Amino acid sequence: MTNLKPIRIAGVGYSIPDTVITNDDLTKLYETSDEWIYTRTGIKERRIVSGNEDAIDLGEKAARNAIEKSGIAPEDIDMIIAASTAPIELYSMGCQIHKRLGIKKQIPAFDIAAACTGLIYGLSIAKSFIASGMYKNILIVATDNNSKLLDWTDRGTSILFGDGAGAMVVTEAEDGIDDIISIDIKSDGNYDHLISLRFDGENCPLVKPNDIHDSKIHMNGKGVYAFVAKILPKYVEELLQNSGMTSDDIDYLIPHQANIRIIQAVQERLGMPEEKVVTNIKYYGNTSAASIPIALAEGVEKGNVKLGSTAILCGFGAGMTWGGAIIRLREGIC
Ligand code: COA
Repeated sequence: MTNLKPIRIAGVGYSIPDTVITNDDLTKLYETSDEWIYTRTGIKERRIVSGNEDAIDLGEKAARNAIEKSGIAPEDIDMIIAASTAPIELYSMGCQIHKRLGIKKQIPAFDIAAACTGLIYGLSIAKSFIASGMYKNILIVATDNNSKLLDWTDRGTSILFGDGAGAMVVTEAEDGIDDIISIDIKSDGNYDHLISLRFDGENCPLVKPNDIHDSKIHMNGKGVYAFVAKILPKYVEELLQNSGMTSDDIDYLIPHQANIRIIQAVQERLGMPEEKVVTNIKYYGNTSAASIPIALAEGVEKGNVKLGSTAILCGFGAGMTWGGAIIRLREGIC
């Protein structure tokens, strides 16, 4: 098919909560140390919501930020995709963002739950809608408040996560240049046991009661590490090869920020120098779906990512899900 419409990444934005929890702070909750956490994960601190702040607030701020950068008026947004596993409002985070942005037009808004791969899943869906000509301007909001879902007595899991939001506005590229050079998403439900988060609910009192598990994140850290270290570096290398590119064609690797050692494994497989790898895991931990767009938008803001460049995004998460995208970063997106 030749008449698919190209896509332009028009704006990116992010938002993180103000409250900082350091590794030393966590020693008040259980036996651990800054040294143990930092050497195994690369994390020193994370940001978490406090009081009534939640993923909707963070998502709204990131969305406003991305919309402003895009130069597209909120009323011209045709669709909102919320990539989120924050169960603040299960009847659509996307609708909450629609309301918060004050958009009067009635447009499709929905959520996708692909855990930490959510942004790449969202981008892939947005690309299809724009390429087909069905919609023109799409807002993707990746927002999570993991801190509300953690078992804060589990030192193997609660050290890893933080809260945050990232957003992207994508539109039809009028100049014919497609900013999404390549994109791919994958999953394997046979590995669902590695990370789980259940909301069992309660059966009707007139029937046999169901088993109820706690609604907290449960993770087999070693199992996740082994699974991801095995598949991700090879997958990212193949994504490049399938696009007819090599790592020399890529200016930045912007990976999901889950563990510095996994990031280094991808970097080594691609043979990329450290200065091309965008990391902020030290300060934010794993912010799930938000981690890639936060790394991108903050990288640009801090001058670590120069625009007029290409980047490879890659992520993985519960499900298990994973995905990657090779994108162009135009001037003015941030
Ligand atoms: N502080 C101190 N000790 C800790 C600890 C902590 N925060 N967490 C676990 N330990 C202990 C364990 O109890 C265990 O002790 P034991 O040997 O006496 O039983 C020991 O350290 C080793 O635990 P283990 O879970 O095997 O550690 P690990 O080396 O696998 O590191 C992770 C744990 C979670 C840091 C690591 O497995 C990881 O990062 N996995 C990837 C997770 C991930 O990316 N998840 C996100 C997916 S999107």
